[in-house]
Amino acid sequence: MALQAIRYARGTLDILDQLLLPHQSEYVSIKTCKDAFVAIQRMVVRGAPAIAIVAALALAVELENSNARQLSTEEARTLISGRLDNLVKSRPTAVNLSDAATKLKRLVASISESGNEVVEQYILAAEQMLVDDVADNKNIGDHGARWILENCGDQKQVAVLTHCNTGSLATAGYGTALGIIRSLHATSSLIHAYCTETRPYNQGSRLTAYELATDLPQGMSTLITDSMAASLLSMHKISAIVVGADRVALNGDTANKIGTYQLAIVAKYHGVKFVVAAPTTSIDLNTKSGAEIVIEQRPANEVLKVAGPRVDFEKDGVLWVDMDRVQAVAPGITRGVGVYNPSFDVTPKDLIDAIVTEKGAVVKGAHNEFDLAKLFA
Ligand code: MRU
Repeated sequence: MALQAIRYARGTLDILDQLLLPHQSEYVSIKTCKDAFVAIQRMVVRGAPAIAIVAALALAVELENSNARQLSTEEARTLISGRLDNLVKSRPTAVNLSDAATKLKRLVASISESGNEVVEQYILAAEQMLVDDVADNKNIGDHGARWILENCGDQKQVAVLTHCNTGSLATAGYGTALGIIRSLHATSSLIHAYCTETRPYNQGSRLTAYELATDLPQGMSTLITDSMAASLLSMHKISAIVVGADRVALNGDTANKIGTYQLAIVAKYHGVKFVVAAPTTSIDLNTKSGAEIVIEQRPANEVLKVAGPRVDFEKDGVLWVDMDRVQAVAPGITRGVGVYNPSFDVTPKDLIDAIVTEKGAVVKGAHNEFDLAKLFA
């Protein structure tokens, strides 16, 4: 069965606790925007599209289970705008969340009938985002698979490398870069998929390897550590590196998971195509270039420690849950070693061959520039 990060029905929202994967598969209930804020910040749910959808649906659930429908039009609009403005602060780099908030605020501002209508239209729009994301990802997958087959030599079958997690766990389903891998496999065009470990949060080893193991036949996927990418490209035939995006600037510079930039440099050196897969909701026309993108800094502990399985144990007749379940892998800041933990980096447009959206693949034209604005015309 396909992995599902988000389970929603009118009035209820459950998300897969990605901090526990791959050891345990447990869902946590999100009842309020406050629950969603904490879950997004702690990375219980992560991935640019998934974060946006969980935030939007958390507010839908909160509204559905409250007396918000009895509010006046103005009160309902103010409540919704305030909640969305706060949710946007949970993680700064991915643009999908602020894009969703802007669209939802614009929608509620346009409704004047009643508070009930404001709430109902908000909930319907948030629910539609969940549906649209899966459809967009399938289109990204198909466009991306076609582009790779047409542009990476005269091969009918390809091997690809991906980074971080961009699959069902990072989206409403199917995935973006991982969606391309799924589409390649669906058309019998995939020879092999490699994924990086993606230190320090290990989205690659904990999440992508898990999704690939679920989707692909045994022997078709391989996990490498981040330091093995150059060696892999020098020793094996890799047709393309495919990655997701948290924010694509107007000029094509792309913020994505830390380590993406070094992969793009390695790809350029080896003449391997470097493909960014992202829905148009990840494109930020208001950000001119990567220099303007705010990069989130994460806590030092993510670098200093790794998480193991959660341990439940019984003591004095009570079932306790050991949530620390961590193993130190470095001496730590108390011993004088500092930690640098930017969650994302920016890959300059010059290192990117194609940006694949649900509307198709965009490549650089005259003067070596991407024209991303045309996607919104
Ligand atoms: O810190 P994360 O796990 O939220 O970062 C995720 C990524 O960088 C993904 O590559 C990106 O969000 C695209 S997910 C379709």
